[in-house]
Amino acid sequence: MEYRIKDVAVKDSGKRKIEWALEHMPVLSILRERFAKERPFDGLRISACLHVTPETAALMITLKTGGAMVRLSASNPLSTKDDVAASLVSDYGIEVFAIHGDSPEEYYGNIKKALELEPHITLDDGGDLTAYLHSKLPDLAEKVWGGTEETTTGVIRFRAMEKDGVLKYPIIAVNDSKTKYLFDNRYGTGQSTMDGILRATNLLIAGSVFVVAGYGWCGRGVAMRARGMGARVVVTEVDPVRALEAVMDGFEVMKMEEAAKIGDFFVTVTGDKNVISVEHIKSMKDGAILANSGHFDVEIDVSGLRKMAVKEEDVRPNVKKYQLPDGKKIYLLAEGRLVNLAAAEGHPPTVMDMSFSNQALAVKFIKENRNKLEKKVYTLPDEIDREIALLKLKSMNIEIDELTEEQRKYLSSWQEGT
Ligand code: ADE
Repeated sequence: MEYRIKDVAVKDSGKRKIEWALEHMPVLSILRERFAKERPFDGLRISACLHVTPETAALMITLKTGGAMVRLSASNPLSTKDDVAASLVSDYGIEVFAIHGDSPEEYYGNIKKALELEPHITLDDGGDLTAYLHSKLPDLAEKVWGGTEETTTGVIRFRAMEKDGVLKYPIIAVNDSKTKYLFDNRYGTGQSTMDGILRATNLLIAGSVFVVAGYGWCGRGVAMRARGMGARVVVTEVDPVRALEAVMDGFEVMKMEEAAKIGDFFVTVTGDKNVISVEHIKSMKDGAILANSGHFDVEIDVSGLRKMAVKEEDVRPNVKKYQLPDGKKIYLLAEGRLVNLAAAEGHPPTVMDMSFSNQALAVKFIKENRNKLEKKVYTLPDEIDREIALLKLKSMNIEIDELTEEQRKYLSSWQEGT
């Protein structure tokens, strides 16, 4: 067995965390039981690049139970839970390459090791493993049957690759399943982002001006939860339809230039670069708190902030104080990386249950359809979404109505009217 983890000795706390996640992921547990009987992944090699968390561990265990050989590398150097990595290696026999705080070179070294498995299928969160495979190991990429992508940022990257005609194998955009983005992006990011900010700062949200940059599903979740805690929430957007939705959802909408002057907390969830620029930072209030919950650490101009600052100092875990030339203090959380995973524990297992059930069923879908799929980005069929939603409802003891034959007929006909 090969692996690169921090310390096997911390495996016991990792095991307890994994068991907690497994217990709170009922849909994935049903799939695991099915896979244990049917062994749909016998002989399948999977290279994954995902956040090394207890929830990801539950997915890896599920795939292994179905017969797959999996190798896991981290999808962000700060989200790795070293105890979880240790338990995966020593209690579950799963090869992991990830150490919390890895340098960029080590990060890509981990991806390279995961790919040495010569996978049939790749799993990605953000697209780094797939992009690495395409650019550095093109011959190996040719042999891959298909891959999955967990997050909006990665899906955007793969759609661009498809458009440029450089995609070498089909990708299932797990992010685009309804049972993923409507829940993980909205309720998962909403809760875990607030969790990260609270754990890092221990400050009161009520009464603050809380600026959310981006009103996609993640932004909606963050704005909703900040409002629920009593903040005056301001949304910034570039898309007029989304901006209008934010207005009608009851949020203040303005340019970042204006929001910068009044915000106490700033959270970026846009997926784009330099959404908070040095110019914006210069006009912020003394003590403003900056955090990012988008996939990459490009949304806040951290290097511009560092250049401008006359002094920087760690004031609490995951809180860095930057002193600006005019004496003002700006606080940056988790180095501008995903605050929900770096300062807290990421999305709760209850919501990752659906995201990772989509991942598990996407692997099965690729295996079963590999001869039909083209080098394109696909969304999973609606039946899979419906199955996951029904299983989740069942796990919550919630029953819903079914269409009667008469209703079904009515919905598929056009003759009946006024
Ligand atoms: N992305 C967001 N939260 C996560 C979690 N808990 N595990 C894996 N990936 C995540």
